[in-house]
Amino acid sequence: MLSPRDSKGPPLPLWGVVPPGVVFTGGMAVHTHDDIDWADRLRSLRMAEALDAEPMRAAARRLLEGMPDGPTILDVGCGAGGMSVHFAEELASGGARILLVDATEHLLAEAHRAVSAAAGDKAIVETIHADVADDGLPKKLPPADLVWASRVVHHLPDQQAAINTFARLARPGGLVAISEGGLDFNCLPWDLGVGRPGLEERLLAARGEWFAEMRAGIPGSVAMPYGWNIALQRAGLDGVDSFGVLIHHPAPGPELLREFVVERVTWLAEVAGDRLSGDDHKTAAALVNPASPAFLGARQDLFLQGAKTVHCGRRP
Ligand SMILES: C[S@@+](CC[C@H](N)C(=O)[O-])C[C@H]1O[C@@H](n2cnc3c(N)ncnc32)[C@H](O)[C@@H]1O
Repeated sequence: MLSPRDSKGPPLPLWGVVPPGVVFTGGMAVHTHDDIDWADRLRSLRMAEALDAEPMRAAARRLLEGMPDGPTILDVGCGAGGMSVHFAEELASGGARILLVDATEHLLAEAHRAVSAAAGDKAIVETIHADVADDGLPKKLPPADLVWASRVVHHLPDQQAAINTFARLARPGGLVAISEGGLDFNCLPWDLGVGRPGLEERLLAARGEWFAEMRAGIPGSVAMPYGWNIALQRAGLDGVDSFGVLIHHPAPGPELLREFVVERVTWLAEVAGDRLSGDDHKTAAALVNPASPAFLGARQDLFLQGAKTVHCGRRP
């Protein structure tokens, strides 16, 4: 939905004007497909954004290179809006338009606040409450110079269909960039001095199984048995390429890093469920308990190392 906050600036186009709470995507309810409470993930999204701010700002600068003045940018599945904050800050001149698209209204409101503050008078920032799996989106949104979609495609039933739609959201010559895959974050020493060594590997393995079940459980889930470069090519994009973004905070890192790791271990143990042994659950519980001598938040040897891959292609 376009919020009343957007009433400043030029008149809103008809494709976005809907009353609060009403969905403009053909009257269907807007929802995610993965059964995840994304509003509940705000704190974690914000922490991750803060920790990867520097390399992601450089990625934003790289994606904006060669854009026309006053570009239209679509941030699809924007979450808390961190990448659009970087786009806004890196814009060379005014007249831009940043459209934040997400199915979670709470995140959209948070993203709007953050991106508007970063954009100042360089860009009009609008929010669109929509299911990005809707293949009718290109009729409802303006053609974009840049379509950015980070870590949302793998939550959609038909990933190839979604990328096909994103390609149609770009204007001819426009860039489609999706952040998917890469290297998982590692944060913990192998031997924590509590429980069996190698806990992080087992947590990540359990998360991998959860992920496979999450995908299988999405109604209408379609397999995509090939890599992201092929998916972008099949969507008709030209010049498909990718680049990696390294996220590295050596130990001991900032205080935020410890908070993030506590939150991450809490979440990993939660999604692991009974794929993780009872002993490992006990260890994880001690690690995230501030009253425990094993509390991660008191350690000076936590780190963060991982990488994101950004896959790009241009609409012919
Ligand atoms: C992992 S978060 C990524 C957020 C942000 N792009 C980032 O990289 O930090 C996934 C986001 O996709 C949104 N999302 C999931 N399924 C969606 C759907 N079908 N339509 C629109 N948004 C969706 C969620 O609300 C959430 O904000």
